[in-house]
Amino acid sequence: MLRTEFSSYTTEKGKVSYSAPSNIALVKYWGKHGVQLPQNASLSFTLSNCKTITSIAYEKKSSASDNFEFQFFFEGQPKPSFELKINTFFERISEFCPFLKDFSFKIDSENTFPHSSGIASSASGMAAMAQCLVQIEVALGSTLTLEEQLQKASFLARLGSGSACRSLEGPVTVWGAHPEVEGSSDEFAVKIPFQVHEIFEDFQDTILLVDKGEKQVSSTVGHNLMHEHPFASQRFEQANGNLAELAEVMQKGNLERFIHIVESEALTLHSMMMTSSPYFILMKPETLEVINHIWEFRKENNIPVCFTLDAGANVHVLYPKSFKDEVLTFINSELAGYCQNKQYICDVVGTGIQKL
Ligand code: PMV
Repeated sequence: MLRTEFSSYTTEKGKVSYSAPSNIALVKYWGKHGVQLPQNASLSFTLSNCKTITSIAYEKKSSASDNFEFQFFFEGQPKPSFELKINTFFERISEFCPFLKDFSFKIDSENTFPHSSGIASSASGMAAMAQCLVQIEVALGSTLTLEEQLQKASFLARLGSGSACRSLEGPVTVWGAHPEVEGSSDEFAVKIPFQVHEIFEDFQDTILLVDKGEKQVSSTVGHNLMHEHPFASQRFEQANGNLAELAEVMQKGNLERFIHIVESEALTLHSMMMTSSPYFILMKPETLEVINHIWEFRKENNIPVCFTLDAGANVHVLYPKSFKDEVLTFINSELAGYCQNKQYICDVVGTGIQKL
């Protein structure tokens, strides 16, 4: 990856601010190797409303030192518990960003979604931070092209949290080398290199907050359990096959196949958890209730609404914008009761990072 060596810097201090959204995988990444490299390609919708807003102020250190100097504030408050994570992230990326040791940083971050909603902030958080760091590098005099800047931000975000690399661009990105996605790479995500059907450009994602608590098993542990998993190789092959078909389906706008692949991917992800050793279940009884209601509603009303799950109990309800009224009425009357405090978040497919 593009490492910029500086003999001198064009500026000594400044500030950059970006927002980055969360993303929801349709073809799931579950299982990794090496340094945050995926075992199969994954594909996701970039979201709009669930995002992290990060500003980084930087200033050249008065004297050289070999450590990282930074302060981290979350919603205006110092957050020492995050500092270890950031230090580990800086250590991992410093070979690609040697300027990190020459500057001190003040990082301010906030999320637009509620605290402890069960929505992982690592994707949006790492994407926003990575984009800010690349823009600092550009301000300091690096000559990366726009395309290289996006690639590098995605590459750095991946080193922070795998799926974060898919949050830089939208509406649909792919991470993981795949023969049918030109330019795709295990090292960073790319925007899907074709026009998706217009129905997907403003696809809705209503996130039902079934369980807002901390997960009992982290993604890191879950990914690692794929190493000895009896179905691992079939799963990785299946995901790559699903991605090939979904890529075609998303160009044509075939909702029937879309629903089939997306729901199958969600249930397969959770099947991998249930067949790991040790096994575990992240779904809750309410998750299954919601899924059954969605199936009934779809059948009775012939409305193309489906679900996906990430590594947790919350349900992402996906549907075309033209059915928003009917689906929201259904969610309010039949699904909200399964959510903690009847809470859900309305999101929509989006375009990725924004400069603030
Ligand atoms: O990026 P991680 O390590 O939090 O793993 C994400 C895993 C899933 O959300 C379950 C799937 C995915 O592709 O986003």
